[in-house]
Amino acid sequence: MKNNLKLPRIIGHRGLCAYAPENTLASIQKARELGLLWFEVDVRLTRDDVVMLFHDETLERTSNGKGLFRERSLDEIKQLDAGSWFLPKFSKEVIPTLEEVLEFCGKLKININLELKLEDKSEERLCALVLKEVRKSKLNYSTSFLLSSFSLEILKKLKILDSEIPLGWNRENWSEEDLFLVSGLKPYSLHYPADVLTADRILEIKSKGIAVLAYTVNTKSEADRLFAMGVESVFSDSISSL
Ligand code: G3P
Ligand code: MG
Repeated sequence: MKNNLKLPRIIGHRGLCAYAPENTLASIQKARELGLLWFEVDVRLTRDDVVMLFHDETLERTSNGKGLFRERSLDEIKQLDAGSWFLPKFSKEVIPTLEEVLEFCGKLKININLELKLEDKSEERLCALVLKEVRKSKLNYSTSFLLSSFSLEILKKLKILDSEIPLGWNRENWSEEDLFLVSGLKPYSLHYPADVLTADRILEIKSKGIAVLAYTVNTKSEADRLFAMGVESVFSDSISSL
């Protein structure tokens, strides 16, 4: 499959998390309402190996649950309130499964960057389950998905299971070794914190045919600086200032 991805300049972060609780259907709805065509969300496994949207390893910050996400079953996770921590009016918001989210994306006609999160050694299972949902969904397989992770291990597993789906490697910092480390992977993109990017670094990555994305960018001046240097897209919590 030829690479058919065409990313917009702004990708909503965790849905569009300045306006609604992150990684919920309300946050995705908000991204679409405000005109975005792509958003990023974080996915991880429950105890019974269901792929759901959730950022943190633990439940406390963005739900009324306690302890490790991975130690709870789908049924237990579905009991949680995932919205009151953000604003009382979101108290009915629940943590969605990836299956529910992909169905919602089909209705909204919005595309998705799935960031795979994992703290144990279940890479094979997480990757296989994510790809199963992606293939089952009605979204356009070659133009509607970007799969990303901070874990190179996860990206390599995805590549083995599916040599064609576009991949993005999330980096916590700049490293001269990055291009060497991804030479066999042929990712679509590398994703950096905005403040580590320079024009030279961006040029070097783009010269290998790899796009550069930046996170998390919430001001117009910073977004303009990055686009002028050749950044393809920025992850943003809010579009009001962009
Ligand atoms: O994928 C970009 C960004 O989401 C990575 O950081 O912690 O928000 O998942 P984080
Ligand atoms: Mg993320």
